[in-house]
Amino acid sequence: MILLERPDGIRIVRIFTPEDSLPYRASFAGAYQDIFSEPPYNERFFPSEAQSILHRNLETPENICLFAVKGRARVVGFGIGVPARSKPDIARDLRGLLPVQHTFYLSELGVLESARGQGLGKTLVDMRIAAIEHQKYTHAVLRVSAVRNLSYDMYMKMGFEDIGVYTEVHARRVDGRVSTDRRLFLSKLLTRRAKPEESLDGETEGFGTSS
Ligand SMILES: CC(C)(COP(=O)(O)OP(=O)(O)OC[C@H]1O[C@@H](n2cnc3c(N)ncnc32)[C@H](O)[C@@H]1OP(=O)(O)O)[C@@H](O)C(=O)NCCC(=O)NCCS
Repeated sequence: MILLERPDGIRIVRIFTPEDSLPYRASFAGAYQDIFSEPPYNERFFPSEAQSILHRNLETPENICLFAVKGRARVVGFGIGVPARSKPDIARDLRGLLPVQHTFYLSELGVLESARGQGLGKTLVDMRIAAIEHQKYTHAVLRVSAVRNLSYDMYMKMGFEDIGVYTEVHARRVDGRVSTDRRLFLSKLLTRRAKPEESLDGETEGFGTSS
């Protein structure tokens, strides 16, 4: 499903099933490998691993998977999210801090270096947030590298808060070693959208536990 066509020809498409993803799968895996091999992550993923990350996300109920696509099927960016309760490690880290059953986890975001600085990153965050069922989820969370980078600033400008919770991620690095790196959780309180039967001046008041 095409959600947006930008004047530069890049389309934001939403993928719902592993079958929908077939034309994009190889390109997604290449983009995923490239993007996360850079600092601060320096992670090494094999194409099969990147493809299975995509597959697992697409098999998760209520997933939101967006690709920024150039030309026929070249993935230049991606933004993925799933309910936090479907990720045991995330749910464990957040328990007692946020209402896990009502928290949506923005699991993956990346834009190829050649396509950065043109608003795609922000669009992929905004459009995932817009696609979350706001009657059901009160918070969106994500993890960024504890090493400050552009993405931290981007999320702060977009209304995310640093909740001061860190976690360690084990990963294979580009030098072949397995090591841990620190990630920081950021959270955003979602606003309740007016239901059609509610007044037209809309209710934008937040609800749930404030982060
Ligand atoms: C983070 C990332 C997705 C941003 O993608 P992008 O398409 O460049 O993002 P945008 O063009 O929407 O820019 C978002 C903000 O990033 C910053 N930014 C982007 N490009 C920049 C540049 N060349 N110089 C300085 N700031 C820049 C700005 O703060 C910008 O906000 P502004 O337009 O209000 O000034 C991209 O850099 C990326 O893939 N990084 C590696 C993977 C990663 O860190 N993922 C996030 C992990 S959760």
